[in-house]
Amino acid sequence: MCGIVGYVGNRPALSIVLDGLRRLEYRGYDSAGVAIVGDDALLTEKKAGKLANLEKALTEGPDTGIAAGTTGIGHTRWATHGGPTDRNAHPHVSQDGRVAVIHNGIIENFARLRAELEALGIEFRSDTDTEVAAHLLALELDVVRTEGGQGAQALAEALRRVSRRLEGAFTLLAVDTAIPGAVAGARRNSPLVVGRGVGENYLASDVSAFIEHTREAVELGQDQVVLITPEGIEITGFDGTPVEGRPFHIDWDASAAEKGGYDYFMLKEIAEQPQAVADTLLGRLTETGEIVLDEVRLTEQDLRDVDKIFIVACGTAYHSGLVAKYAIEHWTRIPCEVETASEFRYRDPVLDRSTLVIAISQSGETMDTLMALRHAKEQKARVLAICNTNGSTIPRESDAVLYTHGGPEVAVASTKAFLTQLVACYLIGLHLAQVRGIKYADEVGAVVGQLQEMPDKLRTVLESMEPVRKLARDLASAQQVLFIGRHVGYPVALEGALKLKELAYMHAEGFAAGELKHGPIALIDQGTPVVCIVPSPAGRGVLHDKIVSNIQEVRARGARTIVIAEEGDEAVVPYADELIRVPRTPTLLAPLVTTIPLQVLSCEIASSRGHDVDQPRNLAKSVTVE
Ligand code: M6R
Repeated sequence: MCGIVGYVGNRPALSIVLDGLRRLEYRGYDSAGVAIVGDDALLTEKKAGKLANLEKALTEGPDTGIAAGTTGIGHTRWATHGGPTDRNAHPHVSQDGRVAVIHNGIIENFARLRAELEALGIEFRSDTDTEVAAHLLALELDVVRTEGGQGAQALAEALRRVSRRLEGAFTLLAVDTAIPGAVAGARRNSPLVVGRGVGENYLASDVSAFIEHTREAVELGQDQVVLITPEGIEITGFDGTPVEGRPFHIDWDASAAEKGGYDYFMLKEIAEQPQAVADTLLGRLTETGEIVLDEVRLTEQDLRDVDKIFIVACGTAYHSGLVAKYAIEHWTRIPCEVETASEFRYRDPVLDRSTLVIAISQSGETMDTLMALRHAKEQKARVLAICNTNGSTIPRESDAVLYTHGGPEVAVASTKAFLTQLVACYLIGLHLAQVRGIKYADEVGAVVGQLQEMPDKLRTVLESMEPVRKLARDLASAQQVLFIGRHVGYPVALEGALKLKELAYMHAEGFAAGELKHGPIALIDQGTPVVCIVPSPAGRGVLHDKIVSNIQEVRARGARTIVIAEEGDEAVVPYADELIRVPRTPTLLAPLVTTIPLQVLSCEIASSRGHDVDQPRNLAKSVTVE
């Protein structure tokens, strides 16, 4: 939630900061604002609504010289404290007008701090928690200067003092008019990375903000303050102890964060899925069918000792975990539970040293997932992260990590992240099975080969989506859409419904097909669209037969059945009002192919309804509050 950018160097900061905000807008788009340090003046502009509103205000407003300053910060907001208005937009400026602050997170003790500042005569101009940080910083800067502190170091020291007083989650960036050529940042429980340039440096919520300028980045740890100047990067703990940040190279291409000719990022990311899956498999399967997971820093003995697995995740990532449960339990015979991360720690789960907790997160910053993993670590469980974002908090705090190589996912709706998370889960399940000695050795060996065929199968699915797009235009006026599936088709049904809810703002529900008759079947009316995810008739034939019966049940009650079934499955034909074919795929891997039509369906319905597909209302890409 909220995107943050800071720049210091020799080039005009405004355009660099605005470009960075454009790439971070997926993190929140309730308002946007910038502060540029000019000639002994702080130039700020902020506007409610999307970044375009801010850009318009900057273009149409009087020439304040804002474009010339070479030090600046910018913010794109997902509102928590205070509505999405101009006055609540960031930056927030101290009463004396010298200091500007932007913030991502929630300052939990802000009410007490605000009362304290008001008692000193400070008048607040917003309803945000952030404004306390601006006023506190100005006061601390005065104190530090009285004590002899000077220049950029004074700003960093004042920010350390403020950070020690704040509770909750925060990334703060601050500039001071009196200190051109310096941006200070503080980080606790919210993301912040440093971009290292030549004669210029950057701070941002994630690397996409500065990827077109530099590929060299530095990871910040928890409770650290960073000071960037054109010449250098200095990191300390909140107590002032110098710290070495972990440098890393960004191998994403800058163009990966552009639309590349597609109308929406989501469409581009759907199309990228075959490559994302191939990249996630790359180097992890040997010719002899072994799984090689070098980044999983758990010994084979650690993996042999595992007697229980919990998967914790949110939203789409949670759905990938639900699929993983079927595969992992089947291949490894280790009991595996999947929980929404936001519920996990509150029910006091039974965890110990032999529990493996798998935390799945595209962003690596989801606060609910982070808190679940911290709880697991406190209980001595081992934590393995599946993550797409190098340098993010969840992999850093985990005992081990398996990165998905999906490249940047910009659209709020998760697509390629889901498929690559599935692949990572399959790899972990297969690896565990191989390390521990397995019951279904032949099957596990065969799956390795089947995984390698997946990129081509996904390309085939993508090439046959025109009927789905046509169907979507037809469904755009439906009141509701239901999704049913069994076994791994059930999480796919949940994922299809989630996509439709978040993008098309339609009532959509996913059900385990067998559960319908226990209540939800009452939702079905004449013409209600029901999307049925049908497993392969090969292998688990019984599952297939059961769902064919379920399709008949909904059809008998007037449903319009939209059936997703594999090539050659003729048994479904009489009961399908619409039939979407996918390539033959073994049941456990089928979610990789059956999900794509659902992504395309929701994207097209949303765009037919005139919605902003990449930035659906009320949402943000990275959810860094609990
Ligand atoms: O970054 P994460 O994978 O941890 O995000 C988890 C969810 O917020 C995310 O998957 C969300 O449900 C998607 N926007 C759904 O499309």
